[in-house]
Amino acid sequence: MEHDVVIVGSGLAGLRAAIEASRVSRGRLSVAVVTKTQVMRSHSVSAEGGTAAVLYPEEGDSFESHIYDTIKGSDFLADQNAVELFVHSAPREIIQLEHWGMPWARREDGRIAQRAFGGMSYPRACFAEDKVGFFEMQTLYDTALKWDNIAFYQEWFATSLIVEENRFRGLTAIEMKTGELHAIKAKSCIIATGGAGRMYTFATFGHSSTPDGLYIAYKAGAPLKDMEFVQFHPTGLVPSGILITEAARGEGGILLNAKEERFLKRYAPQKMELAPRDIVSRAMYTEILEGRGVEGPDGMSHLWLDLTVIEPEKLKRRLAGIREICVKLAGIDPVNEKIPVRPVAHYYMGGIHTNIYGATPITGLWAAGEAACISINGANRLGSNSTIECLVWGRITGEAAAKYAMENGFSSSFPTEQAEKEEKRIFDGLLGKAPRINPYEVKKKMQRTMESHCHIYRDEKSMIEGLRMIRELKQLPYMGVEDSSRAYNTNLTNVLEIEAMVNVGEIIVTAALQRRESRGAHARRDYPKRDDQNWLSHTLIHYTVEGPELSYAPVHIDKYQPVERKY
Ligand code: FUM
Repeated sequence: MEHDVVIVGSGLAGLRAAIEASRVSRGRLSVAVVTKTQVMRSHSVSAEGGTAAVLYPEEGDSFESHIYDTIKGSDFLADQNAVELFVHSAPREIIQLEHWGMPWARREDGRIAQRAFGGMSYPRACFAEDKVGFFEMQTLYDTALKWDNIAFYQEWFATSLIVEENRFRGLTAIEMKTGELHAIKAKSCIIATGGAGRMYTFATFGHSSTPDGLYIAYKAGAPLKDMEFVQFHPTGLVPSGILITEAARGEGGILLNAKEERFLKRYAPQKMELAPRDIVSRAMYTEILEGRGVEGPDGMSHLWLDLTVIEPEKLKRRLAGIREICVKLAGIDPVNEKIPVRPVAHYYMGGIHTNIYGATPITGLWAAGEAACISINGANRLGSNSTIECLVWGRITGEAAAKYAMENGFSSSFPTEQAEKEEKRIFDGLLGKAPRINPYEVKKKMQRTMESHCHIYRDEKSMIEGLRMIRELKQLPYMGVEDSSRAYNTNLTNVLEIEAMVNVGEIIVTAALQRRESRGAHARRDYPKRDDQNWLSHTLIHYTVEGPELSYAPVHIDKYQPVERKY
């Protein structure tokens, strides 16, 4: 099979990239979107609260303010040139989506409405109720379907990248409906598969969010970056972990402990519930650890999110999605009852290492969205910056990958031996081999290890033990795939996902163990202070057969010197 540009992943970044590659080439390039789910089941659909951009400078917002909020929020690990590009590119994406049909919420004067989000000095999150990702995805999918040159390979699971002499040549993917493995030859590729996903037991991610995209890029020679920084969102619904959007606090909701006290006054007296996520999540966790939590189901202590303080009609209109989630999944109506919540794994600041235009060190290979580490998020992302990052770098990488494909022909030869090797690995090595260990047990143990050994608070002793446990899982006799059928063999794709999870788990803990400081979402009890002298640098993680190898790269700082973060 042959396409000019192949995009792996069909969330916001992938779809935006496919449209841009088509626009730039006026539909002349053949663009493939390879996705292991159906398009509208991509995890971006579940984004809830908002998409940040400066829309009204004449009313008091400014690029400068969005830039500084993002850099300060990142605990000064973001690359400042990338943040600048990001903030200046964001408004255009909001308007572009509007032109493609996005039903943004409106103000009284008919202009696009915006709401408050944590760590932002101005209410700059555009929204559509609290189903922002769903409406954005539908808008992009509708638009992408108008381009005849885009081919969607839905329920195709990418298993490897084919790279020769550091140049992207193509990829292999299993067509899940038939079980056949295909090699797709392409000139350029964008990885837009989302972040590492469901590495923890209590997580907002869909079960299909796993780090396979990161893993195939890593194995092909693209380093990962800053993987130790894992974001815990303050409000996961107990016990399911489903996201209760930060917009609930943006609209006025408050957090209470077991004594009905607004405890954030002790941690972030100015911003309170609208401090950045790393600070609010740590505060909540501290409350729970110090005994001011409420005993919940399965021994899960929680705190309360109180939305009864919001005017009921406003709540029903602006937070319809989470109200429905609370009613259907917890039997609680937030109009008159408090919601049990606790911090939940939600986002990875790290990802595939790229330059500020999303290009990886492999020629012809780009990454965008949560899969990429550009880096605008540094050690802690601000809420509402992620969906807009997907749109901005979907456009940038879509354009770059298209231009590259227009300027470069297909190479005369194709390394078929790499595809054959992959075929052997999957069909001879995995399929139909009676497993000597249960892969689902491996997954459970891996997630529990991450939850207990590399969570909000970390320390050397616990992480060394966590790393030992994960490495033990890696060394167990191979998992194997019990189901030998071809059609929709989810047992096979699950095993590939679990292999990626165990390897990425090792990477996260290794990088976290090495970083001997606390910065943003990486809070070490044994090194409680930020250490700019020694650690104002990005972690790069390279693949070797023996395991991850680490090196460090400088942070791009041109304007804002690090200062203590106070909110
Ligand atoms: O809380 C939320 O709606 C999440 C937004 C985000 O992660 O950007």
